[in-house]
Amino acid sequence: MWWCSAMRRRRSGLRKGVADQVPSHAEEVRQLFDAKAATWSEKYAPEGRLAGRLAQLAGAVGHHATSGERVLDLGCGTGELARYMAFMGLHATGCDISPEMLSHAAAADQSGAVGWVQLDPNWRTLPFDADTFDVVVAASVLEYVDSPDDFLRECARVLRPSGILLCTVPDPAHPMRWLEWLAGKTLALAPLRAASENWPRLSRYLAYLRISRQRRPVGWWHATASHAGLTAALPTHAPPRSPLRILTLSA
Ligand SMILES: C[S@@+](CC[C@H](N)C(=O)[O-])C[C@H]1O[C@@H](n2cnc3c(N)ncnc32)[C@H](O)[C@@H]1O
Repeated sequence: MWWCSAMRRRRSGLRKGVADQVPSHAEEVRQLFDAKAATWSEKYAPEGRLAGRLAQLAGAVGHHATSGERVLDLGCGTGELARYMAFMGLHATGCDISPEMLSHAAAADQSGAVGWVQLDPNWRTLPFDADTFDVVVAASVLEYVDSPDDFLRECARVLRPSGILLCTVPDPAHPMRWLEWLAGKTLALAPLRAASENWPRLSRYLAYLRISRQRRPVGWWHATASHAGLTAALPTHAPPRSPLRILTLSA
């Protein structure tokens, strides 16, 4: 009957309409970090949560790259590390899917020492030639990506042979990560989730717990990196009791 197929068309149209409004995972990640961009650099203040990260990552980069070599900060946020690597005499590029993060990064780069590149949130191929970089850093980025295999394969492609990828990943064995897991389960309960809508900070925390989805043991990262053509270069190290692991991988 004509009205049956019309109803079916209308229903499927409605379903499509609703589905169209649900942002993809990558789009949700972009939205979350756009919202965090204005205050992200405060985490690098002396008493901030990321105060030690710059020295730790810059020190690791300094082990593998010398002045004039090419480095990429992939998922650079507000660009603290990229600018610091340029200050170290490296030829630095910073790229990110969040335009807000990149605009703060570029505004703080008054001498224009870093090349800033905007990525599409759903990128599958990086806009760089093969063998371009001596070192790629991805600090606290892998946990948000949809496909770690594709991400790591692209890092391997843009690195020169024997180039180094440094990345930080959450350590699921750390007590802070257990608490995050528990918080995620509790806050996902319907009444609490509804209540969180009145508290923007809580709602952003919930979004973070939901989209920081790659909580994997170190062995899983090494196996996935190996499929992507990267080998563990040095023993994985982490400061004692750190919730983050640094992986050092070689192309
Ligand atoms: C937790 S922040 C870390 C920022 C910076 N690396 C730092 O350590 O301060 C994660 C950053 O990765 C970016 N990001 C997330 N997924 C990405 C992807 N697939 N490609 C590039 N950047 C991504 C986010 O927009 C955000 O700026």
